[in-house]
Amino acid sequence: MSSGYVIVGIELGSSFFRGIAVRPEEHSPDGVEVGAWAKVPSAGVRRGVVVDVTEASRALVALRSELEMQLHDRISEAVVAVSGAHLASVPARGLVAVARADGEIGEEDVRRVQDAAQAAAIGANREVLHVLERDFIVDGENGVRDPRGMRGVRLELEALIIAVSTSHLRSLEEALGAAGITPIAFVAAPLAAARGVLTPRQKELGTMLIDLGAGTTDFSVFEEGRCLHAGIIPIGGAHISNDIAIGLRIPIELAEELKHAHGLAIARTGGKREMLDLPDGTGSFTRKQLGEIIEARLLEIFDLLAKELEGIGRARLLPGGIVLGGGSSGIPQLADLAKARLKLPAAVGMPNIKGGPLEIRQDPAFATPVGVVLLALEDSSSKRASRGLTRISLPGLPKDVSKTVKGFLRSLLP
Ligand SMILES: Nc1ncnc2c1ncn2[C@@H]1O[C@H](COP(=O)(O)OP(=O)(O)OP(=O)(O)O)[C@@H](O)[C@H]1O
Ligand SMILES: [Mg+2]
Repeated sequence: MSSGYVIVGIELGSSFFRGIAVRPEEHSPDGVEVGAWAKVPSAGVRRGVVVDVTEASRALVALRSELEMQLHDRISEAVVAVSGAHLASVPARGLVAVARADGEIGEEDVRRVQDAAQAAAIGANREVLHVLERDFIVDGENGVRDPRGMRGVRLELEALIIAVSTSHLRSLEEALGAAGITPIAFVAAPLAAARGVLTPRQKELGTMLIDLGAGTTDFSVFEEGRCLHAGIIPIGGAHISNDIAIGLRIPIELAEELKHAHGLAIARTGGKREMLDLPDGTGSFTRKQLGEIIEARLLEIFDLLAKELEGIGRARLLPGGIVLGGGSSGIPQLADLAKARLKLPAAVGMPNIKGGPLEIRQDPAFATPVGVVLLALEDSSSKRASRGLTRISLPGLPKDVSKTVKGFLRSLLP
């Protein structure tokens, strides 16, 4: 592995904790070299949220040890995905008067208008994770990408704020801290998954990313390269397994096994005469019956996602369609069901890491941790270029969000 700094990205998923450590490498196809990757069974996390700090930190120690063994180096810092239904995106607007008498808009004005937009959007016990700038408006004139250096009296900002629950974020931080990991930046899981799977062209065209995990379904919608909406639905593959266990009156482990071995998203394609016998001889049922249970839960999830699209006026209106990621995207015919229910083209996407090991680039469940490191790396490389840093001290996010993440991190400092 080449010398230089390492960026570690972590997702504390509801079924697995995954970590990936990369180093920038200009000769590799993605500009990164994967130095280590690991997954360990999840603990202390339910529906994307840390509910038991001690348990979660134990699993994090196991993840860290595995990564350190592969890296032959210590890990003390990581960029971490934030999940859970408490994460929400809120459109916001900020307005300030330009400070300088000659009307030239400076960095300070931009910072103030970002703060104004944030203040308008968040409530008690909420913290801003990202401010995604959409549009600046100078003296009523829309469509300004960067107002710095322009002249005006009134500066407005339209933004999408991604906010999370302060107490959930603190629990996540505590678990990381107890495992000896300092979170140097937090990234909203749906944005990380989008960076991990979508192409710039899909983001430009108009595309919805759906990461179907175990405890959650993360989604984000992009158009003209910008995020329009993002959120997390607290239902995932674990609920499907529970439904199978209840519906067929079998133990949960067996339900999970059956789902993996014979699951399908469109029940009618499972033959009525295709019998599945339970290994202990206690019963049998048809593959179609199994499919019906899976399909019912998936339709519920897709209907909730359709509502999210309706809410932003994009139902059936995304030319780039749906891209699926997460472990549950392994369910056969999932893309066909998504296509039929959401009336949009749909396909399963693979992590954007062409040069990485097969276990990562062919596993859609790695979408989120891959996205975390790619976002962090993009931000750190721009900073390195300007400041000549050899080691990142504050990896954040792409240009449009990094400022606020720094602000967010600043607010954590004493
Ligand atoms: N081939 C498969 N067929 C059906 N389900 C699968 C398959 N492979 C994985 N899964 C399901 O995917 C889920 C795990 O997905 P993933 O690893 O993305 O979740 P996670 O990141 O741990 O959880 P979270 O929901 O918190 O993000 C489990 O419910 C598992 O049963
Ligand atoms: Mg996940």
